[in-house]
Amino acid sequence: MSKKGFIFDLDGVIVDTAKYHFLAWRKLANSLGIDFTEVQNEQLKGVSRVKSLEKILELGNKTVSEDKFMELMARKNNDYLEYIENMNDDEILPDVPKILDFLRSKKQPISLGSASKNARVILQKVNLFETFDAIVDGTNVSKAKPDPEVFLNAAKELNMDSENCIVFEDSVAGVQAANNANMISIGIGEKEVLHEADYVFKDFTEISIDFIEELIKK
Ligand code: BG6
Ligand code: MG
Repeated sequence: MSKKGFIFDLDGVIVDTAKYHFLAWRKLANSLGIDFTEVQNEQLKGVSRVKSLEKILELGNKTVSEDKFMELMARKNNDYLEYIENMNDDEILPDVPKILDFLRSKKQPISLGSASKNARVILQKVNLFETFDAIVDGTNVSKAKPDPEVFLNAAKELNMDSENCIVFEDSVAGVQAANNANMISIGIGEKEVLHEADYVFKDFTEISIDFIEELIKK
């Protein structure tokens, strides 16, 4: 059987943490007198912590000193860490284990490709740390999605060419990063939002094993 590199984003793809990022950013934005809606949050998904705060300040037309910027980032992350403190494998999104187990049974290389610096902690909490052949996260990339760096690094770690990699992403920036890396992009979420993806599914319950087998054969 041929091999493909399967690369998974973390937040909003494997686990339901996108909502916690939103809640923590909204709390921070509101504390600065900035309104922050779920629609605006789409622009932050997949985007690094630094870029996210820059976008929020931009929304509120605010500038802050470098020290204040660092303090705000730490505050957001502390709130976020509180949300995920008691996380366990119940928060793995539906049918994700089914797809991961199938890929492993077919000996397909699997990598994480996330912007988050909390990725390893989360994978440990939900007992998926050992599932991945490689983990590329916010601690080993310097350029935020839509830059393809995170996925190109994952392909390298898996020893796969870009054109033989498939990326699962819930964010616009992440889908663009996959496309920029010349990989097949699979959007997880709403078609209207993720229209640049090669395929879009509402969630993993809509993805059949037949579809995955086809991807492997391609
Ligand atoms: C991405 C999330 O996976 O990681 C973003 O979609 C988040 O919302 C980014 O800002 C950075 O995460 P962290 O955990 O390092 O702040
Ligand atoms: Mg995501």
